[in-house]
Amino acid sequence: MNKKVKQIISLMAVFGCIAIASSSCGKKDPNSPGVEFMPDMYRSPSLETNMAYVTIENGKETGDTLQANRMPVNGTIPRGFMPYAYANDTAGYANAGRYLRNPFPANAANLAEGEELYVKFCVHCHGTGGEADGLVASKLSGPPPSYKGPVLMALSEGKMFHSIYYGKGIMGSHSSQVSKAEIWKIILHIQKLQYPNGVQAPAPLAVDSAAVVKVEAHK
Ligand code: HEC
Repeated sequence: MNKKVKQIISLMAVFGCIAIASSSCGKKDPNSPGVEFMPDMYRSPSLETNMAYVTIENGKETGDTLQANRMPVNGTIPRGFMPYAYANDTAGYANAGRYLRNPFPANAANLAEGEELYVKFCVHCHGTGGEADGLVASKLSGPPPSYKGPVLMALSEGKMFHSIYYGKGIMGSHSSQVSKAEIWKIILHIQKLQYPNGVQAPAPLAVDSAAVVKVEAHK
């Protein structure tokens, strides 16, 4: 290789470097990330669930939207989930007492499950026999009434369900600990404590004479 050729090559290298350097520094848009070698690595073509994407061209919204799936319509409920129709207020309490019925029969399996759940979640306040003599009950500012007292003997199963589901007074809601089916089985056990010779639940209509007729629709 003669001297002239070497000079030409080194000159080309210098100009090349200057060209590369000026192309990366002389950007028009200071926010531009520069050349993207694999744009789909930066901007994934996949769409997120339940997100509406706005399409922008030349800095303006085109009015087109991209969406992976539609938002569920109002009132959609998960499969297998049954909403509770009664609001947590006086009317809801009265209506629950009036219209709610235990769908589970008082057979040996349901009673056994109810007792097991009662011992886990209720016994420390309400006591083994339901006489409000649990270990925690004595520490409460207002201990629960006995299941065998006149007030709770007259309580319809629907009102019981409502109070266990939402809570009442200083008793908190148990809807996160026990399912609706489990609440009904616990109620079977409570009724067994109240009526050891067989369930004689009070007639709801007679007890709830002040019930409001309007049933709250689920929103
Ligand atoms: C922290 C103590 C505590 C626990 C735990 C507890 N309760 Fe209660 N419960 C109470 C008190 C206190 C009341 C009285 C509430 C009132 O009338 O103000 C009550 C009231 C009730 C009533 C009557 C509701 C009404 O409408 O008058 C029922 C039924 C009941 N509890 C069932 C249960 C069941 C079933 C469990 C377990 C799943 C349970 N409780 C767990 C303290 C408790």
